[in-house]
Amino acid sequence: MIEEERMKMIMDHYENPRNFGPLENPTVTLRGGNPNCGDTLNIYIRTGDGDVIEDISFDGEGCTISQAATSLLTEFAKGKTVEQVGKLDSDYLKELLGKDIMITRPKCSRLALETLKSWVREFEKGKTA
Ligand code: FES
Repeated sequence: MIEEERMKMIMDHYENPRNFGPLENPTVTLRGGNPNCGDTLNIYIRTGDGDVIEDISFDGEGCTISQAATSLLTEFAKGKTVEQVGKLDSDYLKELLGKDIMITRPKCSRLALETLKSWVREFEKGKTA
C-alpha cells in the first residue's frame, strides 16, 4: 500500500470508526489504556461456539493511531476464533499501519493488539485450568 493511501485509510478509520460503541451482553469487557498519555480503551467481545468471536466493538478516548488501529483490529477479529486473534503480531500491525508509524508511535500502534492478546492468554489459560 502506498503511504498516501495508508494515511487516508487510517484517517478514515479514525473519523468513521468501525464497530464503535458498547455491545449488548458482551461475554467480556477489556479495559486498556496508555498511562503515558491518559488515553483509554474499552473492547467488548461476545464469544460463541467454537471460541468464535461473534461480535466485537470498542470505545474510549484516544489518539488517531490508537483509535484507527483498534477499529482495524475489530474488523479483523469479528468472526475469527480466539486462537486466530492470538496469532496476530507486530508484522500484522506493520502491514496495516506501516513501518514508520510503528516506529514513531509504538505504544499507540500496539495498544489494542496488546489489550486483545492479554485477554487471549487469559482465555486460553481458563480452558486449561
Ligand atoms: Fe495515547 Fe496514542 S497518544 S495512545
